Formats: sequence, structure tokens, C-alpha cells
Amino acid sequence: MSSKKSFTLTDNRNGKSWDLPVLDGSTGPSVIDVRKLYADTDCFTYDPGFTSTGSCESKLTFIDGDKGILRHRGYSIEELAVQSDFMEVCYLLLYGELPTSEQKSTFEYKITNHTMLHEQLNTFFKGFRRDSHPMAIMCGVVGALSAFYHDSLDISDPWHRMVASYRLIAKMPTIAANAYKYSQGQPFIYPKNDLGYAENFLYMMYATPCEEYKVNPVLARAMDRILILHADHEQNASTSTVRLAGSSGANPFACIAAGIASLWGPAHGGANEAVLNMLETIGSKDNIAEYIARAKDKNDPFRLMGFGHRVYKNYDPRAKVLQQTCHEVLDELGIKDEPLLELAMELERIALEDPYFVDKKLFPNVDFYSGIIFRAMGIPTSMFTVLFAMARTVGWVAQWNEMVEDPSQKIGRPRQLYTGEVERPYVKLHKRG
Ligand code: ACO
Repeated sequence: MSSKKSFTLTDNRNGKSWDLPVLDGSTGPSVIDVRKLYADTDCFTYDPGFTSTGSCESKLTFIDGDKGILRHRGYSIEELAVQSDFMEVCYLLLYGELPTSEQKSTFEYKITNHTMLHEQLNTFFKGFRRDSHPMAIMCGVVGALSAFYHDSLDISDPWHRMVASYRLIAKMPTIAANAYKYSQGQPFIYPKNDLGYAENFLYMMYATPCEEYKVNPVLARAMDRILILHADHEQNASTSTVRLAGSSGANPFACIAAGIASLWGPAHGGANEAVLNMLETIGSKDNIAEYIARAKDKNDPFRLMGFGHRVYKNYDPRAKVLQQTCHEVLDELGIKDEPLLELAMELERIALEDPYFVDKKLFPNVDFYSGIIFRAMGIPTSMFTVLFAMARTVGWVAQWNEMVEDPSQKIGRPRQLYTGEVERPYVKLHKRG
């Protein structure tokens, strides 16, 4: 960050002026440094939803929403999705560089060796109702990890931070698969150390103790690609939640549980589940016009799920890769004429030609296609956001580590524009109207 330029702020009430430093990143928009604003001017900035606020300095992920660019540590998401694999992307996010083959196998070995859950944690699932939403189970079980792994809770110790990070990345697929197995009334399947990360997850989801189960390599590759595409996305709601929770010094397991809670909402990670529900409600191509009209109606709360993004005002680059993966998966499974995919593609075509969506720059986002792929793989709708959480864990963990290591890190404490009563004398109960 450099500071050679400045913005001049003038208070028109008294003619006073202040120079606010402008900080340049390595690429992307510069920021106006307002850290001393309150001390100097007696005013706060006002930015609900943080649409114009940078909350931290980061070297992890760069997004140019207008151009549809997403890069991790400088590498484009399109290249990573096609040429890399999820374990390599995890290493890249955590350590800043692509691993050598030796570093990669050591990393994979360490992750593989943390995939099993403490046996007592397995009994924890049984406290949930069988029909619990798996995201509810995920929030509870991930939060409970801090009760089981006391030896990795000292956030001032780099070794503790590393072990907690590995544990979170490694155990998330096991927790996700267990949440599913529990809802099915099936026994939990223990992880298998000779399987890759995505493969192991599919194995724990679908194997039973009664027979051999071989994971389809095309589906394992598709799952791995989905994990890459969801691995990190800079300071979105759930990542900001993880950072904010962590800024108080909370342990990483508790912080990631907070991130999972934030991800669950339909405006964020819950959208992939909402897309499928929406497509099922629309039902047929004949009804598309009615739902497009509803999405455009200001008095109707209905929104086209899987469309629009706070940052992307162009095609979400992840959605493009997923569209291709979606076709590969359907071909592999021999699913022809999948009505929901046809409906989705027609909806996308109509929306992209509609002046409302064109003018507001509303394009399909990553959630638009992921749901269709998951459904084709036999993953129930309620598990969609769980898979998002599983993939995003590495991003949350890398962002949390970056925050803890940042010497300028402070507890997150936004201020407000207070518009309530100023001061009133207390009125005794018997004297109130
Ligand atoms: N359908 C219809 N209209 C929409 C949609 C949509 N999906 N998304 C935005 N708009 C409209 C808004 O009504 C608003 O109109 P206005 O300017 O006339 O008031 C305008 O487009 C701008 O939208 P905002 O809500 O201001 O955009 P914001 O950045 O706050 O919201 C969000 C982004 C939450 C993603 C929104 O587009 C949305 O709700 N989309 C549907 C849910 C979804 O797919 N979420 C997944 C996001 S990706 C992710 O989290 C992984």
C-alpha cells in the first residue's frame, strides 16, 4: 500500500478542510483512508451494507466485478478450475504460492490424517432431530469442535493456528457427510485415507457398510471443480462475519461456525438451494414470463434466485465454468433432456435479453448452475449450502489467518447514525398514560 495521493474533504458548515490519504493496492480501486476521520472531523462515514467500504487489507483474492474477473493469489479462477485441483488451491490460499510436488503430497497427507472426527463428536449428531436442516447440524457441530480440540485454540501460537486450520479443512467433509447420513438413518461412513478430498466426501456420502462402493471419477472431478470455484470470494458476508468474530480473539472453530450461520441465508450461500426450489415452483417454460414479471415488480418480494451479485456486474466467471461442468456431469450420468436444466437455460436466455436485467447488470451467479449439478449427482437440496460451506472453509480459514497475522488488526467495531430519542426523564409506571 502506498500513499502519494489524497482527497480533500471540505466541511461546508465551517469551511474547514482535511486531506485524506489515498492508498493504492497492487490492482483494483484505490481506497480513501478514513481511519483518522472521526478524530479529525467529529463525523463517521455512513455505509449500510458496506457498499463503499474496504474493511481490511488482503493478498488472497482479487475480484473485478465489472470485467467478471476472479483471481486467487494472482491466478485466474478459470485456469485454477481447469488445471489445478482443490488441495492445490487450498495450499495456494493458505501459503500464497502453488506447492511443489513434495509440498503438495505433504499437505495432502496432513489433511488426510485429520479427516476423522473425535469418536465422541459422532455421538453429538444424535442430539439433533432426524429432520434437522443439515446447515443447523453444521453450525452446531463445527461450533462444538472447540470443545474437542483444546490443543489448537491458542490463536497467538502459529502452530495451533495451523493445526486448527488443517482440522477445519479436513473434518468439514466428514461432518457434512455425517449430517446427511444422520438424516437418512444410515450409519456414518469413516473417511478412507487412500481417496482424494472430493472423492472421499462422495464416498462418505454414498457408501454403506454392506457393499463395495466405487466413486465415479467424473463426478469426483466435478465435485473437486465445484470446491475450487467456491473456495474464496474476498470480503463477502460470511467471510466478513468470520473476520469480525475473529477480531475479538475468538477461537477459529467458533469463527467458522459464525461464517456458516451467515452463509446459510438465501441472499448468500442459501441461494443454490433457493434456485432449485424456484425452478421447481416455476415448473415449466410456459410459466417463465409470469415469474420474470414478478421478479421485476417492486411490490412483489420475489427475486430471480441465482441472479445478481453485489460485486459482479458482468457474468460471474464461476457460473461459466459451472455451466460446462453441468453438461459433463449430465452426459456422464446419461441424463438427457433434464427438464430443470432446460428450464434454467431458457430462464437465463430470457432474463439476459430483458431490459430490466440488462440495465441492472443482473447476470447468473455461481449458484445458478451448482444446484442442477448437485441434483444430478443425487445430492438432496438441503445439502447444497452445506457443500458451499465445505468448499468455503479454506477461504474462511485463510482469511482468518491473514487477519490474525496482520499487525494493524483491531477488534471490528462499526459505529452508527443514531436516530432515536435523545434524552427523556423516566416516567413511573403508575404515571404512564
Ligand atoms: N431478481 C430481481 N431483481 C433483482 C435481483 C434478482 N435476483 N437482484 C437484484 N435485483 C434488483 C434489485 O431489486 C435492485 O433494484 P432497484 O435498483 O430498482 O432497487 C437492483 O437489482 C440492485 O440490487 P440490490 O439488491 O441493490 O443488489 P445487492 O448488491 O444489494 O444484492 C444480491 C445482491 C443479494 C445477490 C441480489 O442480487 C439477490 O438477492 N439475488 C438473488 C439471490 C442470489 O442469487 N444470491 C446469491 C449471491 S452469490 C453468493 O452469495 C454466492
